Amino acid sequence: MVLTLVPQPASVTEGSGTLVLSPATRIVIVDGADAAASVLSDVLAARTGLRPDVVTDPPSDGDLVLRRTDDDGESYRLEIGARVEITGSDAGLFYGVQTLRQLLRVKDGVWSIARASIVDAPRYAYRGVMLDVARTFFDVATVKAFIDRASSLKFNHLHLHLTDDQGWRLHIDSRPLLTEKAAGTSTLGRPGGFYTKDDFREIVGYAAAHHMVVVPEIDLPGHTHAIGLAYPDVVEAPVMNDMLLAQSESLGQPLPVAGEPYLGWGVGHSSVRIHEDATWEFLRDVLSEVAEIAPGPYLHVGGDECLGTPAADFDAFIERVTALTAELGKTPVAWHEAGSAQVAEGTVGQFWGSSTPTAEHAEHTRRFAERGGRVILSPSTRAYLDMKYTADFPLGLTWAAIIDLESAYSWEPEEIVPGLDAEAILGVEGPLWSETIPSLADIDQLFFPRAAALAEIGWSPASAKDWASFRDRVGGLGAVWDAEGWGGHRPSEIDWSPR
Ligand code: ACM
Repeated sequence: MVLTLVPQPASVTEGSGTLVLSPATRIVIVDGADAAASVLSDVLAARTGLRPDVVTDPPSDGDLVLRRTDDDGESYRLEIGARVEITGSDAGLFYGVQTLRQLLRVKDGVWSIARASIVDAPRYAYRGVMLDVARTFFDVATVKAFIDRASSLKFNHLHLHLTDDQGWRLHIDSRPLLTEKAAGTSTLGRPGGFYTKDDFREIVGYAAAHHMVVVPEIDLPGHTHAIGLAYPDVVEAPVMNDMLLAQSESLGQPLPVAGEPYLGWGVGHSSVRIHEDATWEFLRDVLSEVAEIAPGPYLHVGGDECLGTPAADFDAFIERVTALTAELGKTPVAWHEAGSAQVAEGTVGQFWGSSTPTAEHAEHTRRFAERGGRVILSPSTRAYLDMKYTADFPLGLTWAAIIDLESAYSWEPEEIVPGLDAEAILGVEGPLWSETIPSLADIDQLFFPRAAALAEIGWSPASAKDWASFRDRVGGLGAVWDAEGWGGHRPSEIDWSPR
């Protein structure tokens, strides 16, 4: 029998037979594994209807034992025999529970778990997904649902793309007009919205309980049209050169107009005023409030697609904004274009070029490593979760590629950017841009199953990479995702029958 696990654990030994769950099953916590006990209890209640007693008694056969270790790693051991024993730090126990969750099966009303012995640890420290809440605003409940899904696949960073031409989504006390005037709409006139600081704290807390760190992004200096609805003195008039006019024509979408909401999805026409003191006062206000409210180490400052900005201005901006971010106590993160500039030491670069990058994209990406930083790989032709699976798929875009499940799975991080040392790779991230996805059901369609492919690339040892094995395991997970109430696409090249 195949164990339907994704990502594939570092080491799995299959046992024989199953452990049966019953109303007598208990959760036994050892050495303060209370948080994991509550996660496991909720998982079991939702999936099986059983709500085991949580006790600190000596374990006996049939129990689900959670043994907490006092380290801050993400590794865990999971033994499923006469009883279940999971051993790990808080994060490790959380991941052990997610593994167990994928093994729960029901037959004739009886729940059981296949016997196995698993020793597991991630390949990369950074395993991210990004949700674009700017092109379409998603409420707190939807973001939490996204965290549920992502954390079940052992993703540990949630990058929130909080601002773009189409809207500003986080309240900033010192700049209240941003949410008063620049948050009202989404792409194509869909409803807008924004997070109050309490909303944002709620997301951060929910993410932390699921062992995910929130990475807030304020996209700069481009993708800033919306700021002009609130603080017009901070932004330039929309740029319209031949390239941008051609883009607007090919999209069949109107040109941006200063002071009016932008509802299309053309890119590259907006910029803050790079050399104005007022801009830097604005940026200090905004970035210091974001740094204060987001407890994680990273603050993403964008840097992508400044198509109308002169190179020298762009570089001057990036140098200054990464220095400001570092001064505010955060590690700056920026899209790879920012590698053209003298980024602050230690800035993390996020590569989003093709899986066979241009020489310039590769060079800009290596610069982050040369300046003491590391790199997150999001090759848009493989890891972008918003690309269509097939040319006729109803959701998603195609500008980077059409990405079927095999293409999403079949790439190796160390082979993307020539000359980038393996040690410089911090991890991988799957961005989910939201121009075409107004609902959670649509998010699921693009997320499942491709995010599972990315999860395996980020977590499993390179030696475990095997498309035939993955397609078998992921196929078996379809029924598990259905049971969790998670929809998604089920491409016909995969056998989705329950096993
Ligand atoms: C990007 O896709 N503009 C990062």
